[in-house]
Amino acid sequence: MTKEIIKFEHVSKKFGKSLVISDLSFVINRGEFITVLGSSGSGKTTTLKMINGLEKATSGNITVGDKNLEKSNLVDVRRHIGYVVQSIGLFPHMTIAHNIAVTPNLLGWDQEKIKETVSRLLNIVDLNIEDYGNRYPAQLSGGQQQRVGVARALSANPPVLLFDEPFSALDAITRQKLQEEVKKLHKNLGNKTFFFVTHDINEAFYLGDRIMIMNRGKIEQFDTPMTVIKYPKTKYVSDLINTVREKQALWEKLK
Ligand SMILES: Nc1ncnc2c1ncn2[C@@H]1O[C@H](COP(=O)(O)OP(=O)(O)OP(=O)(O)O)[C@@H](O)[C@H]1O
Ligand SMILES: [Mg+2]
Repeated sequence: MTKEIIKFEHVSKKFGKSLVISDLSFVINRGEFITVLGSSGSGKTTTLKMINGLEKATSGNITVGDKNLEKSNLVDVRRHIGYVVQSIGLFPHMTIAHNIAVTPNLLGWDQEKIKETVSRLLNIVDLNIEDYGNRYPAQLSGGQQQRVGVARALSANPPVLLFDEPFSALDAITRQKLQEEVKKLHKNLGNKTFFFVTHDINEAFYLGDRIMIMNRGKIEQFDTPMTVIKYPKTKYVSDLINTVREKQALWEKLK
């Protein structure tokens, strides 16, 4: 097994005539927690979607695990990559237990194994099957639904999990709790790779082993939090970090 799990080589993406990603190259290793920051429209979601083939690269090469996406069955690739989005995307007419079991059912697991997995996954995200398994998504709070989203993404035991602003609709306290949980989850799961898009700078610096900072379809910097803070590579990155410093100064003034 190689150390690398996701590799982009000179990837570009056009929508019609508009070039939204140009010449993107990077490597992510197994087990890394990557956070992705950048302005609205900078190409974060597009990049994330290209990892699981929801969007197709216009040119360049993408490798996930040992698969070149160009040559792979994308439905198969998608089933092996967990995906958590802001809008949660639970099926409203299915119970929580059924929502988590969607992929295991598609993969044809036996019902005993599915039940055991659903129960275990609910425990992992601090819910339990007795109280929550038979409820419908609308009967859960936003934060609880988001936990179910994480449990569902883990259901097929994927090596890679993609998160697209999963906590942005939540209040600050719930959000902080889920950040701590997701960090713990990553640690406990061991060798899983998380690719986590967020607009929240503090979230990105708290969670990421490395932070990918994007602007206008390019990577401005892709480094550890400490390196980004100590050695911002571009003006865009230093401006971004200064927004945090300015906020801190405001808090100090209010004390
Ligand atoms: N299906 C599409 N068709 C046409 N243009 C698209 C499509 N999806 C995205 N784009 C464009 O591609 C660019 C990058 O979009 P993307 O969704 O990747 O940005 P983002 O960094 O995720 O932004 P945000 O932070 O607002 O979610 C934007 O200019 C967007 O308008
Ligand atoms: Mg986006």
